[in-house]
Amino acid sequence: MRTQIVIVGGGPSGLLLGQLLHRKGIDTVVLERQSRAHVLGRIRAGVLEAGFVNLMREAGVAERMDREGFVHHGTILAHGEEQIRISFEDLIGRHVVVYGQTELTHDLYDARDAVGGKTVFNAEGVTIHDADSDAPYVTYSSDGTEHRIDCDYVAGCDGFHGISRQTIPAGIRKEYEQVYPFGWLGLLSETPPVSDEVLYSLSDRGFALCSMRNATLSRYYIQCALSDKVTDWSDDAFWAEFRRRLPRAVGDRLVTGPSIEKSIAPLRSFVCEPMRWGRLFLCGDAAHIVPPTGAKGLNTAASDIHYLYHALVQVFETGEIEGIDRYSEQALARIWKTQRFSWWMTKLLHRFPEQTEFDLRIQRAELAFLRDSRDAQTVLAQNYVGLPY
Ligand code: APR
Ligand code: PHB
Repeated sequence: MRTQIVIVGGGPSGLLLGQLLHRKGIDTVVLERQSRAHVLGRIRAGVLEAGFVNLMREAGVAERMDREGFVHHGTILAHGEEQIRISFEDLIGRHVVVYGQTELTHDLYDARDAVGGKTVFNAEGVTIHDADSDAPYVTYSSDGTEHRIDCDYVAGCDGFHGISRQTIPAGIRKEYEQVYPFGWLGLLSETPPVSDEVLYSLSDRGFALCSMRNATLSRYYIQCALSDKVTDWSDDAFWAEFRRRLPRAVGDRLVTGPSIEKSIAPLRSFVCEPMRWGRLFLCGDAAHIVPPTGAKGLNTAASDIHYLYHALVQVFETGEIEGIDRYSEQALARIWKTQRFSWWMTKLLHRFPEQTEFDLRIQRAELAFLRDSRDAQTVLAQNYVGLPY
């Protein structure tokens, strides 16, 4: 088999790239290790930067998102009983859209089906060969048969645990990592959201986050110990701890109910450099991870896709390789700024096991500065709504 671009991984990065390229007449094959049901069953984040929304529109996949997504003009940072509202609208005249990653992935698969894009699910042993030559190819097996696809380029969109990053020789690859000493326990419930806007709360007992998917579906999180298991947390235990970490005025109006999903995710900052090796390009979680505090995971994937899409269109339409040559540098320049923001939000809003009294006073002062300074709020708003591509 031959295609122009093999896309390893059928998560949001791979699917969005495939859809954008299809609109330019560029042929792709998506190889996904899991089943479609598995990919669509994952509950992930749901805050989209304006840049992501524009890419979905450019890919022709925005119809349901534009209809069902919620425009948010601000967010709230709570500290103890105090609430600081950051008005994106007043500060920078921009907004974000709340639309679940699960829904978005659904829309991207439907769009790929509609245009007859080839997707192989349950692809085993995907291996990228000769990425540093002019004739790369990818092998995999499915239903017990070995397959080979020859291609012009490979997009490594296979997430943090994928094989694409490992394909870059260890001597060329440099990885930067910070692991945080806690995780997030998330719960999804069919209850009305306690806050109209996403609310981040720092309390003496640690961090809590109020988010939502729609008017009757809430997504909530609490900071938990890395050693905690989901089974350690009954729904009742979650609700009791969650309420204690919210300002009383918010906790008092909390509506609780049975969970329909509960999971624990560790928090990590990670960047792999470079993001290109020969004809292989890394995108999204395959190349970098942010802690979820700034809602940037999906959004950093989108900026990679933006740069790679334009570079690939340039090379296929004009033969010019300038975009491809700049891909890694361009993507990383934005990634590192977003890494900094996610790391800063994480430090600002969590309780760390080793925090001293001094550290706590600094944290408190930083939140007070944010409350009192329009400039500080503007910096937060610019980063939260999304830096330019
Ligand atoms: N071969 C083929 N597919 C693979 C392989 C492999 N060896 N390893 C992983 N995959 C698939 C995974 O099953 C998954 O469906 O690659 C996909 C990667 O998807 P994501 O992990 O969702 O990563 P990405 O598409 O970059 O999405 C960006 O932003 O909100 C964050 O982490 C969140 O998923 C989100 C990400
Ligand atoms: C979510 O809705 O799941 C969500 C929102 C904001 C975050 C992280 C996750 O910072």
